[in-house]
Amino acid sequence: MRHLLEIDDLTVDELRHVLVLAQHPSPPQVLAGKGMALVFEKPSLRTRNSMEMAVFQLGGLPVYIQGDEIGLDIRESVEDVTNTLAGFHAAIGARVFEHSKVERMAAVDRLPVVNLLSDAAHPMQALADVLTVVDEFGSVEGRSVAYVGDSNNVTRSLGLAVGMLGGEFRIASPPNYSFGEEDLARLRSTGGTIHTMVDPYEAVEGADVVYSDVFTSMGQETEAEVRLSAFADYQINSDLMSAAGDAVFLHCLPAHRGEEVTSDVVDSPASRVWKLAENRMHAARGYLAFALGES
Ligand code: CP
Ligand code: NVA
Repeated sequence: MRHLLEIDDLTVDELRHVLVLAQHPSPPQVLAGKGMALVFEKPSLRTRNSMEMAVFQLGGLPVYIQGDEIGLDIRESVEDVTNTLAGFHAAIGARVFEHSKVERMAAVDRLPVVNLLSDAAHPMQALADVLTVVDEFGSVEGRSVAYVGDSNNVTRSLGLAVGMLGGEFRIASPPNYSFGEEDLARLRSTGGTIHTMVDPYEAVEGADVVYSDVFTSMGQETEAEVRLSAFADYQINSDLMSAAGDAVFLHCLPAHRGEEVTSDVVDSPASRVWKLAENRMHAARGYLAFALGES
């Protein structure tokens, strides 16, 4: 039973294998006649669509379930929901607020659980991120990825994936929004080179990839005003991209144009954001083909 709660639930070899499967032209029909439940406590454009299309391409039926409708821990417990869905589906994907909810689904251990974003991690995003770096440069090894902004769920999964594949990961965050020792130790345990700093210009210098995410993640809306001022110097604009040289720009999206990134950067020739969004589907298909058994 394979669960993917964070990207380092995969070994390095498995991660490489998933990336190969993601590029496979004929998807194995591992979900033929089967369903996958997709539970969303938060909004989604990319994750829902990429998962639904991946399940379809693998021969299965995706069933989208709104969090409000089933009320995780309100109408019934996470465990009771998981046990019920296990009677219908071959796998469950869930986007939740508290990471403990996907851990509890996995602990039921009746069907493979895929974390579709929790407050702690976004492994399916990280898979697409490194797939996009591979598309661009041939491999992650020896490449440097500079992440500028909040040290959050996307940063954590991305840093682990880059580290696992032998890349260099630099994070520029304001002091109050940087990772603590526990996170840094986990990132460094991949064997990758991890640097943290405060100055975004220092982070992007000579980088191959400049990466951005929103300043205020879903669930943090009450902090939006404080965060906007704390991150005022962390916008990716043409000045910062010029300082990076000929780096490509990635953003997990949605982008708040004019906040963490300017429109001219999103729409610039250096931007690979649409490629990254599309890669969510290829990465999801590769992961499910791996987890549900290729044939
Ligand atoms: N990047 C990402 O997860 O996008 P959605 O929130 O739209 O799914
Ligand atoms: N860090 C963001 C990512 C959105 C895809 C959030 O959690 O809202």
